[in-house]
Amino acid sequence: MLNKMKLRKTSKGTESIEERIENIKKQELPKHIAIIMDGNGRWAGKRALPRIAGHHEGMKKVKPITRLANKLGIEVLTLYAFSTENWIRPKMEVDYLMKLPQEFLGAFLPELVEENVRVEMMGHREKLPEDTLKAVQKAMDDTRDNTGLTLNFALNYGGRDEIIHAVQNILEDIGTGKISNKDIAEDTFSNYLMSSKFQDPDLLIRTSGEIRLSNFMLWQLAYTEFVFTDVLWPDFSEEDLLQAIEEYQRRSRRYGGLKSEGKEK
Ligand code: IPE
Ligand code: IPE
Ligand code: MG
Repeated sequence: MLNKMKLRKTSKGTESIEERIENIKKQELPKHIAIIMDGNGRWAGKRALPRIAGHHEGMKKVKPITRLANKLGIEVLTLYAFSTENWIRPKMEVDYLMKLPQEFLGAFLPELVEENVRVEMMGHREKLPEDTLKAVQKAMDDTRDNTGLTLNFALNYGGRDEIIHAVQNILEDIGTGKISNKDIAEDTFSNYLMSSKFQDPDLLIRTSGEIRLSNFMLWQLAYTEFVFTDVLWPDFSEEDLLQAIEEYQRRSRRYGGLKSEGKEK
């Protein structure tokens, strides 16, 4: 798959994709990349196809992007697949979207198992159709012991909803005496979020030219580097991911402090 990628001309001559990956790996990589996969509908609209055709094409892009992230040694790839707000779309579109995890995992799960990828999900399970949940649960179970990339699907996920639930669970634990209000700090709060197993994203990518978060990981993105691209998700290529990571590597993360010496890029 990767070999099919184009060679890139650089000042040092033509760089093969393998060399490019090796060069990227020499610098600090984002450990957690989160992607708002947007623009499926517009991709279809431009081709006079129904919106669901765009969703299908978008689903196909998850494979090469996952493979590349795994190859790069990224620890977590979180993909925003369906928001708590997306239920207001036409039933036919929602029904189609809810079938995609079965189709995707049905075809890709053996490779994920083989490639040491661990599947996770964050989002509310209750509203999800039984078959959708079953497919995701099977993928989580079958890949539980894998130690490579974690592929984390945000499915029926909303940042505000997540924060509200965290507050409710904290109040419950205070009520039962499990914790006291003095225990509430940033790290304990993070433990009550659906992303508690993961560190905050280092890099957020949103495709399709929209410059907004659409209720995605509101707490966790506090110090994340953002890369917005006009590319529509079904067109998002390995090259686009490499470019986003290179952009990340040019950034200087300061967390409110000053540029640390020797870390200037
Ligand atoms: C992203 O593509 C997929 C989901 C939100 C489920 P869209 O369906 O939002 O595509 P656009 O934004 O209408 O082009
Ligand atoms: C965000 O995209 C949700 C996902 C990509 C799953 P939307 O298309 O739903 O966001 P808005 O409506 O443009 O803000
Ligand atoms: Mg959209």
